[in-house]
Amino acid sequence: MTETLGFCEETRPEGCGFVLFGATGDLAGRKILPALFGLCEKRLAPKNFYLVLAARTPMDRNALESRLWNIVMRTSPSTAPEVFSAFLARIEYVQADYGDPAFFKKLAARLTELDAKFNVKRKHLFYLATPPAAFEGLAGSLRDSGLLLDPKDCTCWSRVVIEKPYGSSLENAAAIDAGIKRAAHESQVYRIDHFTGKETVQNVLALRSANAVFDGTWNGRFVDHVRITALEELGLEGRAGFFEGMGLARDMMSHLLQLAAITAMDLPSSFRDTDFKAEKKKFFESLRIFSPEEAGSCVVRGQYAGYAAEPGVAGGSATETFLALKLAVDNDRWRGVPFYVRAGKKTGAKRTCIEIVYKKPDHGIFRDIDIGYPNVFSFSIQPEEKVDFSLISKHPGPKLCFTRRSMGLDYRLDEHDKAPYPTDYERLLIEAMAGDQTLFLSDAEMRGMWNFLSPILGTWQRRPQACPLHIYQDGTPGPAAAQELIKKDKRAWE
Ligand code: BG6
Repeated sequence: MTETLGFCEETRPEGCGFVLFGATGDLAGRKILPALFGLCEKRLAPKNFYLVLAARTPMDRNALESRLWNIVMRTSPSTAPEVFSAFLARIEYVQADYGDPAFFKKLAARLTELDAKFNVKRKHLFYLATPPAAFEGLAGSLRDSGLLLDPKDCTCWSRVVIEKPYGSSLENAAAIDAGIKRAAHESQVYRIDHFTGKETVQNVLALRSANAVFDGTWNGRFVDHVRITALEELGLEGRAGFFEGMGLARDMMSHLLQLAAITAMDLPSSFRDTDFKAEKKKFFESLRIFSPEEAGSCVVRGQYAGYAAEPGVAGGSATETFLALKLAVDNDRWRGVPFYVRAGKKTGAKRTCIEIVYKKPDHGIFRDIDIGYPNVFSFSIQPEEKVDFSLISKHPGPKLCFTRRSMGLDYRLDEHDKAPYPTDYERLLIEAMAGDQTLFLSDAEMRGMWNFLSPILGTWQRRPQACPLHIYQDGTPGPAAAQELIKKDKRAWE
């Protein structure tokens, strides 16, 4: 069995009431409710814990139970009925009228009763799984009904969780943020990007921090370029309503930049949320914002051929389902090292990874022989969870020949490592219930993301011919132009 060494911390969530707004929506059904069930099933939820599901749809208890059963069966088909019953015992449904102050008064009164029943000390987490346009109104109504208490006032707390992309444009995101800030203090706002909750993403920082041999070479002196990939096999999955107005850039940019930030940021002096966020903020400040010309030449957008025929997609839709770009980080560590980033739907296979590609030797035996890039440090995030380091070694035998080899580390080495562990959403919900913001995005990161994305979206809108939409065949890794983007720098995706 693999042993843990010295430092070994476990975040413990505090007993609380969890209120899920938008409980009948797509996000709640696909991610949040399965995660809440997973926490209860794995006994990771706090002992004193209850759930209030709120949505506009009227729903009686039978309808609620069968809806939840279907959700649970999709993600955990072997669930025992008694485990499901224990989950149900913590849940109640309320029909919400988001525009009616009386609804929030009634909710506040009900939470007081539930606090008493479940022995919760006025600690409430409000998850806004609603369209971003509803965030400000919801947060304001929660404050007006006394549900967003200032955490400094007492030992109780109240927190608001929201999801990326936190808006639809730079201006709109700023307005939403200002609205939320009128209702809640930044320390109460938990901005989720579920990629930061992935085990293998956290391992990037763990490896860097603990193994000086790697972080010492983690800079432009040794690294030639960095590649970040988030390709998906799936297409729209019936989400045209959401995706048509959004597009892949808004949908995935936060994820991509979080992977880039965790790769490129300086190591924080501790894993405390304030130290961590301070370093991540510096990364966003160093990210070069594209000029309109660069937004054309450094970005490729694509759409899979079958997209137009997806149910709910408008004829002639120019919504992108693929994105490749070359970003630059203007700081001493990374100046001159391009970060090639790509993400796309219907690309034939799911693959999320980060690759640090070291420079070719420029002196010694291989000075004049092109052996490609001998050292590539790859973090496979999903579906495989591995770390590989490729290097050149002597080929066995009497001759002096060289061969490419790879040292691999399977993230889950033995059966013990494969034991049920929290998924990305489960992990983030635990952290939010524990009041640890390390894995959540600050307002500065959210602004940094929009500052970066805005000129790209502006160019697509104002000068679409500068960055044309390339159609790619379903099941292929994006358009040829994405290969060209990296090939013209004499590099390749792999
Ligand atoms: C979500 C996007 O945030 O991330 C989806 O809205 C995308 O479009 C998903 O499919 C990818 O997440 P994961 O964890 O499945 O890689």
